[in-house]
Amino acid sequence: MGKFLKLLVLFCAVSFALTLRTEEEIRRRDEMLRHSDNFTAAFSQEYLRYKETGVRTRQLEQMLAMMQITKEFARVEITELDAEAAIMSCVACRATVGLLLQQYRSGARDKEQIIEDSIGICIDLTSYSVIVCEGVIRLFADHLIYIVDARPALTANQMCSMVLQPECGDPDPVFDFTINVSPGPPITGPKSGSIPRNANEIKIIHITDPHYDPAYLVGGFADCPDPTCCRRFHGMANTTAARAGRWGDYRSCDSPWEVVEDALEAAHRQHPDAHLIYITGDYIDHGVWETTHAGNMAILDRFYAAVRRVFGNKPVYPVLGNHEGQPTDQFAPSHITDPVISSHWLYQHSANAWAQWLPASALTTVRRGGYYTVNNLPGFPRLRIIGLNNNDCYRMNLWVMYSRVEIAQQLQWLHDTLLAAEAAGEYVHILGHILTSGSSCFRYWSREFRRIVDRFHRIISGQFYGHSHNDEFNIYYARQQHQTAINYAWLGGATTSYGGQNPNYAVYFVDREIYQVNEKESWYYSVTEANLNEATRPVWRLHYRFREFYNLPDLSPASLDNFVTNTMSRSRNALRSYREFRSSASDFVMNQPCDDNCLRGQLCSVTRNEINDNRKCNEINNFPLS
Ligand SMILES: *[C@@H]1O[C@H](CO)[C@@H](O)[C@H](O)[C@H]1NC(C)=O
Ligand SMILES: *[C@@H]1O[C@H](CO)[C@@H](O)[C@H](O)[C@H]1NC(C)=O
Repeated sequence: MGKFLKLLVLFCAVSFALTLRTEEEIRRRDEMLRHSDNFTAAFSQEYLRYKETGVRTRQLEQMLAMMQITKEFARVEITELDAEAAIMSCVACRATVGLLLQQYRSGARDKEQIIEDSIGICIDLTSYSVIVCEGVIRLFADHLIYIVDARPALTANQMCSMVLQPECGDPDPVFDFTINVSPGPPITGPKSGSIPRNANEIKIIHITDPHYDPAYLVGGFADCPDPTCCRRFHGMANTTAARAGRWGDYRSCDSPWEVVEDALEAAHRQHPDAHLIYITGDYIDHGVWETTHAGNMAILDRFYAAVRRVFGNKPVYPVLGNHEGQPTDQFAPSHITDPVISSHWLYQHSANAWAQWLPASALTTVRRGGYYTVNNLPGFPRLRIIGLNNNDCYRMNLWVMYSRVEIAQQLQWLHDTLLAAEAAGEYVHILGHILTSGSSCFRYWSREFRRIVDRFHRIISGQFYGHSHNDEFNIYYARQQHQTAINYAWLGGATTSYGGQNPNYAVYFVDREIYQVNEKESWYYSVTEANLNEATRPVWRLHYRFREFYNLPDLSPASLDNFVTNTMSRSRNALRSYREFRSSASDFVMNQPCDDNCLRGQLCSVTRNEINDNRKCNEINNFPLS
């Protein structure tokens, strides 16, 4: 069933929420959603008639034309699509999943027939090659059918509300869950204060989203109709414009090995004095229709070995990204042991590979669920690192629809670990792949995570994520006091240019008392420039120092909030420079027009902590810009 909808998706991740829906658009969406059951019924009737007669009515052709999934859909988050496209993707999801689910549950079509129907619908609704449609649907079928069999009450509308959150109705309450949060002192004000900058700061390199594609073909075809291009599968480019460069491509292309290796070597060359290395996931390519356990492990092995070779004995703290799952995005609970759908292979592999960086005591939870905590770091006695596997919050992880029990367990473990850290007088850095806010994590997970941040914001000194490919940040506001800034997260960007940004990595300067970030630097190279000088290695440049550039007194949550609320939200220049920073000065992004509304849209991605909670964002995105 609706695996085709998997495909429409993005398995990838790209930035979130640059488009603010107007009241009128929301009204129109709700109106269309009210009619969608009838659309589903009509589509089912026409489609089944076609399966019977082999003839497509004009009405069926029209419906299929309406439901076309653009390639754009695979590239951006749903909240970035225009309102029309977002609504139609929801209608299409409900109609196709509704049809397939009904046919499967009623016994009218068996598993193989449902797979074939799904492949047919994928070919009808997307530009993707037959090989891509077939590959994706066959890879995901076992997972989806297991879940549908185990959850006979699951409806198509519920499934679409999860996968297409928040554009397909409110996420269904059937997916809700809560954890136990211990009582703590009330939040009395924003989190402020910092240790003055000093020569003794800890220097941390943050590398994320390398997306190494072993099938990348320099000179290959970058303009293909599939979710990922520039691969051997697509052959050589027939024009100069369509040619994949040696140093990456702004289109839907991952990175060749040289790009991955160059980023690691550049980071080490420019910062040989770094103390810690944070690596936040998505080592695997976007060839989502042909991933295998062996293929993923080969990529991971090559990447980890390069990290080790380049950084030597430096401490490295890795986490898993949604692309490490196989098939992509899928993270089954631990009691699922069937090797076809289980995630044990990945957790075993991670425990073995990470044993070179993590103490044995941290590996128990890696084996169980791909997450860990480490304290008593040599030289940093009061710093605790928590590496989450928060891909279980991802709306594309179908297992969220199966059960939230283990998802809750990891969050409860996070809570309990923070409680122990608080008692021990430690400060904590949280590493994860997916920003806990925004549209990628399903709403109930974001809310529970927020409750934890509310409770422990005093000791959470830093949060570090990847996934969006944008070099950006997100301020956490207290749930009950939406103007009170209590924490924030840095997103590292990406060393791949998939998604249209330039490759980058970040460097943080952290004090040794409360372990808060005192300054953030970003380093990047221009894909355009590098490919014009293909024979030589890219020129890496310092892009900005955040605190210095915006002239901030410190980088506490209160200070960042003050900047966003009083400066950034009113200044075209500040919003423009932030836009440039987010894409690491990508020509692809900067050559697109961005009017005031587009500039202001960035404020939501900075201030939203839970999808549909736009309280802070609505307060600051209407100021006149000067
Ligand atoms: C949906 O179809 C039913 C039955 O044909 C009809 O009674 C109902 O008014 C329709 N609903 C909408 C919202 O069009
Ligand atoms: C290049 O190949 C693409 C895809 O096969 C095709 O659509 C296009 O027309 C070709 N262009 C030239 C100049 O041959």
